[in-house]
Order: sequence, then C-alpha cells, then structure tokens
Amino acid sequence: MSSDIDELRRELDIVDVVSDYIHLERVGTNFRANCPFHPDRTPSFYVSPSRQIFKCFGCGVGGDAIKFVSLYENISYIEAAKQLARRYGIRLKIKDESGEKAKIHQILERVAEFYHSKLKENREALEYLKERGIEGITAKKFMLGFSPPTKELAEFLRKEGALEIYEKTGNITRLDESKFRDLFRNRLVIPIRDPRGRFVGFGGRLLGGEGPKYVNSPESEVFKKRELLFGLYEGLNYLRDLKSAVLVEGYFDVISLHQEGFRNAVATLGTSFGKEHAQILSRFVSRVYLLFDGDEAGRKAMRLATPHLLSAGIDVYPVFLPDGMDPHDFISREGKKALKALIENSSEVFQLLLERVKKGEKVEEAVRDFTYFASFMKDEIRSFALLSELSKLTKIPLDILSSKVYRRREEPPSGEEDRLSFTERVFLKGLFELRPEIDLDQLNLSHRARELAQMILREEYYDVPEDILNLRTTDIEAEFEGALERLRIDIPREELETAGLRESVREMIRSHKGGIKPSALRRWRGGA
Ligand code: UTP
Ligand code: MN
Repeated sequence: MSSDIDELRRELDIVDVVSDYIHLERVGTNFRANCPFHPDRTPSFYVSPSRQIFKCFGCGVGGDAIKFVSLYENISYIEAAKQLARRYGIRLKIKDESGEKAKIHQILERVAEFYHSKLKENREALEYLKERGIEGITAKKFMLGFSPPTKELAEFLRKEGALEIYEKTGNITRLDESKFRDLFRNRLVIPIRDPRGRFVGFGGRLLGGEGPKYVNSPESEVFKKRELLFGLYEGLNYLRDLKSAVLVEGYFDVISLHQEGFRNAVATLGTSFGKEHAQILSRFVSRVYLLFDGDEAGRKAMRLATPHLLSAGIDVYPVFLPDGMDPHDFISREGKKALKALIENSSEVFQLLLERVKKGEKVEEAVRDFTYFASFMKDEIRSFALLSELSKLTKIPLDILSSKVYRRREEPPSGEEDRLSFTERVFLKGLFELRPEIDLDQLNLSHRARELAQMILREEYYDVPEDILNLRTTDIEAEFEGALERLRIDIPREELETAGLRESVREMIRSHKGGIKPSALRRWRGGA
C-alpha cells in the first residue's frame, strides 16, 4: 500500500496542489504564503518545488502535498491521498475494505447483537442496569449485552461460519480442538464502534465474582484504543451541532450522561487521552469540557489531557466536580440542571488560571501551568495575548514568560516528539524501579517524557515502551539521582537578577499572603 502512496506522491506537484487552496507567491526557487494553519500576518509558509514539501516557520507544520490536503481538509492522510488521486485522475490501489477487515466488522456486529439478545435472559445484568439507573431505551441505544457461558457464543459463531475469523480479534481464545473461552463471559458487554459506526470490539464489566472490573478487546488491526472514543459515534451529530464534547472517564459516565441528555459525552477506553484522540475530536468540535471525577486521579487526568487538546487547536474547559463525586453521582444528587449549569459556567483553562492568579490562589502553580499549557497552543497570537495578560497581572516580565514558552516549543510538536533524551530514559526507568515520591512539575521534561512519567506513576505500564522499562543500568539509584539533577528546573541566576523575576515573585507573595507555601517559595528559588 505504501508503495502506491509513494507513486502518487511522485505524480503530484505540490505547487499545483497547494495553489488550489491558497495563493502562492514566488520567491526565488520557492513559493510562500500566509500560513493557512495559524494566524499569520507575514508570510511564513514556504513551499519548495525541488523538495516537494511545505513548511511553516511560524507554527512548524510541514510535510508533503498529501499532508497539506489532510491538514487543510481535516481528513486522514489516506483519505487525502484518495481524494487527490481522484482529483488528478491517478489510479490508487489502496487495499479495499471488502477483504478480511470488513468481515471482521460484520461478525463483530453479529456478536454484539447476540450479546444484546442475551441481556433480556439474564436477571443479574438487568438488575445491575436498573440499580445504576440505566433505562431500557438506553441499553438498546448502546446495544448493551450480556455474555453467557462461552459454549453458546461458540455455537452461534459456528452456525455463522465465523468461528475462525472471530478468533483473530482475540475476543475468544481456543483452549483445545473444540473448546473456547470468551474474554467477556459472564460480563455485562458494551459494544464499541469507531467514528464511522463500524463495530470494533467490546468492553465488559464485571457483575460479581472475581476479576478485573473491566476487560477490553485486545489491540488489533480493528481495535486501536489510541484512536477510539466511546460514545463518539453514538453522539456524533450532537458533537457536530454543539461543536463541543464532554470528556469523561468511563463507560458508565458516557452511558448515563447520554441518557440524561448530554449526548456529546465521550470517554477513552481506560487508556490515557492522547494525541490521536485529540486529533479525532478536532474534526468535529472546537471546545472540550473535561468532566473528570472529583478526585486526585481525575485532576491528574485533566492535566494530562489538556496539552493534547490545546495542540489540536481545541479550547479546554475544565469542569470541577465536588470531591469524590463522578458525573453520575452529581446528577443523582443535584440533578441534571445543576450539571448543565456547572458545565456552562465553567471557564476556559487560561481564563481559569488567570482568575486564580487574581484571587491569589496557588499563584505560583497557576503561573507555571499557564506557561506550560501555553506552550502547546497552535495559535501564537492568542498565546502571546494571553501571556501579556499574565505578565500584566503578575508583573513577571513578558520576555521571561514567553521565553519559557518558546523554549518548550522548540521541541517538535509532532512526529519527532517520541524521541527521548538518554537522561529522560534513565529518569523513567528509575521512576519505574524505585517509585520515589516525585513532583513532575519540578522537572524540565519533554511532553512525551512527562506523559510517560505520569503513566508510570499511575501504574499504566501497557503504553510505556518496553525499551524504557528494559533499559540496562548498572547502578539505577545513582544514575537516577544524576538524571534528576540534570532535569531539575533551575532558572539561571543572572536571569533572575537582571529581569527582577525574584522580586516580582516576592511581590506576588506579598500581595497574596498565604497564597504560596514556603516550600513552594524555596522551590522557586531553586533551593532544596
Ligand atoms: P473506573 O475504575 O473509574 O471505572 O475506570 P468507572 O467508570 O467508575 O466504573 P464503574 O462506574 O464502577 O462501572 C474508568 C474506566 O477505566 C477503564 C474503563 O474504561 C472504565 O470505564 N478500566 C477501569 C479498565 O479498562 N479496566 C479496569 O479494570 C478498570
Ligand atoms: Mn464511575
């Protein structure tokens, strides 16, 4: 397939392709324009016919002709390739879906129907749904089901002539010649569909007995957790209309929110929210409300999701639930109107942080979060405007604030961000082995390293690359210490003195007595 795309790329002329969308001006052997991907007052977008690439020196995007179309039209790379092939009459032999994959989608749908038909027959599952306040119509809309003893499913698949192909999903395992085990047996089953509505897998909730609370279909060609959001297909029209989504933590949050009229609620499938999720959402919405549980884990997840959303150009609105409550608890206690008000009255994340600074609540943390989040924003003009506002408010000089943001932005926002420095690798390995108490905000980590560190701290090892966990070290404690030393954020002393940053921090503290803990102050000063 890729050789096909290579061929297409050779046939296309990037200047032609881009000129269909924006006006290009010749400069020497290259062409330039105002960048269509960020507000750009001076032309910083360049197209090179000799290299057949484009690059914006303002916002950093770049790539080939197909990438340009995929960004401009907000469609996937493959989709863009197909579109271009059609437009220019070039044959593109991308393997069609009529093959095995489509069969797998079909059989997954049949299995979902099978499970759904078994729901009525199982008292325990029905009782459970009733207890959680899930109505029949909701169960039907999400096609909730129940998985009876595996024999029945195997029988069903055999009749469909689909036993062999279904094995490839990993949802059932062959034990011997004729015996199978269903991963979801005795569980309440939640079918998962991709944004195009195709059935891709299941989540299964434990009803009683032993085992993990949820199991999910294993990763496969059709089931890619990084690219799936539960509730997205079911709520797609609402997301599109409202141009917003409510991101929640779990399956049941999505199900009960949809039932209560919040039909733009989506959740990841137990993995952390990542770049791909944000990119998918950005095709439909411009705003995401983060409605996570009112606990430490929920607050952490919020911090982790925000950068991905911002760098996909989505505005982030954190919504805070009272301690220990999840969305369903909140609706049960306060009603849906209250939840609606909570969501509608929430503030955009930068406004929220500015408010905090104004009120003198955890000022230093708010300032640090502000510059951290700002470094992921696509829109430089907006981020500059926000930083100016922050600077006015805190009296921290603008050039210091923007230099912090700028330095982070030096790290490529996409493609290469997976590269970790050796120090970061040692640090992550140490984090995994030694499990020290650590405050990640004190460290100068790349976005990817930070994300991995958070996964390790949450004990979500499945997304952490093996080569990090297996990194060879001789004296991990000493090496970890060394890595920490190198990663610690220390503002150079000259910068402190000349720019009067230390003074402005003192100022902040004086004017917001009690807002900053002494320990936090020590940290700012770079002391221990
Ligand atoms: P939670 O443990 O917060 O579950 O996990 P929950 O949604 O509140 O579950 P209920 O309300 O008790 O049913 C949140 C999400 O993490 C994933 C699931 O997607 C779940 O919805 N998860 C959780 C797993 O994949 N496996 C687990 O063992 C637990
Ligand atoms: Mn819950």
